[in-house]
Amino acid sequence: MLFSSANAPRAASRNSLYILLPEASFETVRDGGEVYAMICAGCHQPRGEGAIGAGRYPVLAGSATLEHSAHAIEIVLAGKGAMPPFRDLLDDDQVAAVLNYARGAALGNGFSPNVEAADVRRARR
Ligand code: HEC
Repeated sequence: MLFSSANAPRAASRNSLYILLPEASFETVRDGGEVYAMICAGCHQPRGEGAIGAGRYPVLAGSATLEHSAHAIEIVLAGKGAMPPFRDLLDDDQVAAVLNYARGAALGNGFSPNVEAADVRRARR
């Protein structure tokens, strides 16, 4: 489990995320599918099927919010409700890569056009 207060040797000072990976090694993860598996799948599930249990994690397949790329960028950067913000953990390329992965066939989507790193950079404030 990626997010757990029980295994947080490095209680992330920057945005209160608890991650197992040392930041230095996470920065080398450039592939959107890997970013998804390491961060997003814990809540949204490996195929974006979502979950209802201790919380409600939206289905990403067919998500209108995900299709609206500006909205999706905003949610990943700033978080929403029980979803933590990732603006400090992920750089522009990683946000674009994970969103393109989630917007693509791997999660049953076919949203276009692709999110570009420049779109993410503009959305940061
Ligand atoms: C700790 C659990 C958690 C993690 C990790 C997480 N999310 Fe979320 N996500 C949520 C929750 C909860 C919501 C619903 C927020 C709300 O509407 O209140 C959400 C909403 C979303 C939405 C909007 C979906 C919709 O249709 O409303 C998108 C897109 C999304 N997340 C993408 C991602 C991506 C991409 C990642 C990985 C970088 C990620 N999430 C990581 C919990 C998580």
